[in-house]
Amino acid sequence: MERIEVSAPGKLMLFGEHAVVYGRPCIVTAVDQRIKTSVRKISNKILRINAPEVDIDNYEVILNKLGRVDVPKGVRFIEFAVRNFSQKYNLSSGVEIETKSDFSSKFGFGSSSAVTTSTIMGLSELFNQKLTKKEIFNLSYKTVLDVQGVGSGFDLAAAIWGGTLYFIAGGKEIEEIDVPKKLPLVIGYTGVKADTTTLVKQVIHLREKDPALVNSVFNAIGAVVGQSRTALEKGDFKLLGKLADINHSLLVSLGVSSQELENLILAARKKGVYGAKLSGAGGGDCMISFVPYNNKKEVESSINKAGGEVLNVKTGAQGVRID
Ligand code: MEV
Repeated sequence: MERIEVSAPGKLMLFGEHAVVYGRPCIVTAVDQRIKTSVRKISNKILRINAPEVDIDNYEVILNKLGRVDVPKGVRFIEFAVRNFSQKYNLSSGVEIETKSDFSSKFGFGSSSAVTTSTIMGLSELFNQKLTKKEIFNLSYKTVLDVQGVGSGFDLAAAIWGGTLYFIAGGKEIEEIDVPKKLPLVIGYTGVKADTTTLVKQVIHLREKDPALVNSVFNAIGAVVGQSRTALEKGDFKLLGKLADINHSLLVSLGVSSQELENLILAARKKGVYGAKLSGAGGGDCMISFVPYNNKKEVESSINKAGGEVLNVKTGAQGVRID
């Protein structure tokens, strides 16, 4: 039977994490590491999933039981995406879905957002619904909230629109911004997998204790994002570095950095970067640094020596597409 091949990019948060959950803007870029999802109709009224990266081999569930019983971790986003699509558009047959990833889910590049958006885009093609980007976003966002309860949806926007985006939570604003093709970034992976939901909840508790103070930190992060947007558009990397440093200090004040992140950020700063910050929820995953072109090699080896893994990705990648 007809098979649809879809792929979606991973993401890298540049500025504005955490504050974006509370209505402030953020800037995110899509990276050229993609998740490929293949979707086809099958005659049995079941959903069958194969996802070798997360050890899922021929998982099957009856269509009218989708999302009901204990759903294994590795298939949650796909199963809830199929359920949400079928509740809205009705599935006329069963579906088989297979995923293949260019990157490991441990880096925090947004494998769940890429798999969710590509599943919904694949179903939309297979069942002739031709959803718009915003419709794909809305169904994907519902899926993410069903599975993890929290999140701004910025990673879904990056997976759908691609490029570099100015984003406000829930997709209230999604604007493509015009940035230089090649950003002078060095990215270091700490070796520690961050748990986004736990970190977001940690910040929720911090805010409950002192809303006025924590809101003022979010406002400051929002102001940094506004200036970063202008600096990105102008290609002013020195200023972007300064703003990265300020953004990082504000995240430290929210308690979401970690020793491993601090080690890599310090290692980068020692080699004359314009500036550096953690990227994403914190607690692990990656740091990013804006680096003068002639310092790149030195910064990379300094990050390696400090125990980090340098990840080479291109930014501003294309959004979800039929391959
Ligand atoms: C996680 O990568 C970024 C957060 O802002 C959460 C979110 O926006 O969904 C912490």
